[in-house]
Amino acid sequence: MIRTLTIRRPDDWHLHLRDGAMLRGVLPETARHFGRAIVMPNLVPPVVTAADAVAYRDRILAALPEGADFTPLMTLYLTEQTDPEDVAAAYQDGSVAAVKLYPAGATTNSASGVRDFDKVRGVLDRMAEIGMPLCVHGEVTDPEVDIFDREAVFIDRVLDPLRRATPGLRVVMEHITTSDGVAYVADHHKDIGATITTHHLIINRNHILAGGIRPHYYCLPVAKREKHRIALVEAATSGDRRFFLGTDSAPHTDAAKQGACGCAGIFSAPNTLSCLAELFEAADRLDRLERFTSLNGAEFYGLKPNAATITLTRGDPMDYPETLDTGAGPVTVFDPGFPLHWHVA
Ligand code: DOR
Ligand code: ZN
Repeated sequence: MIRTLTIRRPDDWHLHLRDGAMLRGVLPETARHFGRAIVMPNLVPPVVTAADAVAYRDRILAALPEGADFTPLMTLYLTEQTDPEDVAAAYQDGSVAAVKLYPAGATTNSASGVRDFDKVRGVLDRMAEIGMPLCVHGEVTDPEVDIFDREAVFIDRVLDPLRRATPGLRVVMEHITTSDGVAYVADHHKDIGATITTHHLIINRNHILAGGIRPHYYCLPVAKREKHRIALVEAATSGDRRFFLGTDSAPHTDAAKQGACGCAGIFSAPNTLSCLAELFEAADRLDRLERFTSLNGAEFYGLKPNAATITLTRGDPMDYPETLDTGAGPVTVFDPGFPLHWHVA
């Protein structure tokens, strides 16, 4: 049995860090294990201009623990008012790595997202010209569409038409949750990649709803049936370069999660790598963990893998706190429902 595993320092290609006291509380959890992260722009108000992104990056850098080896990669929140030239200049001078598309109303703080795709055509065309990636929250918001079908319907109604209308646009389907998402990426070789979260590799919809309602397993897109989880595990462990880790670690305080209308989001930064090592080991694919966590995403974003490495060691089940105390309040840590034997040195 393999007992230690050394891999390039991982990157998180989809992460929520928030701001203020919450940022200061959660950032060390990511910076401990990850070299870089694509930081989501859904603050209140959202990060919409290059100047907003640079100011947010500076707040993140100021919140980093001494000596941390971590670089935030910033994103802009696409609105119908976004200026194509502001976006292009920010990409070309390195202050922003990608643009994030939220269909209006799809998820937490997405009210300023896109309603009319014709209004963002100029931005998308400019991004295609310069090779800048578009990160997509792939769910329709049509109230007529069942919440478990929103990803599959988005692919047909929005994603595929959008990619055809903008040849050369490089798209990351964020946090795919279905076999439809896996199949779409697998069938379209050019200019497409997908992130997969740790929790969608581990939970299905029963975890949220069977035997009592579990707010800490509620996120968007919502976890689907077991057959979809299995398709995600196959994609993540396949070694296919188009699939890479984006944890979507999304902290909310327990008070915000446990109310009558609880927020969507699962906080997995502290134990994500231990969860993934356990999962890849169970699939007999530990040799492909590095591709998923440390190589494929960098390649998609046109970056070198991190030079530093981390070592995972198999030992007794890990003790980790159930909640992280932040200055904003306690935040529950993702419970994979099985013991974690892989410790990150
Ligand atoms: O579960 C989620 N939480 N999904 C998202 O898309 C947003 C995120 C958040 O910001 O809390
Ligand atoms: Zn997210």
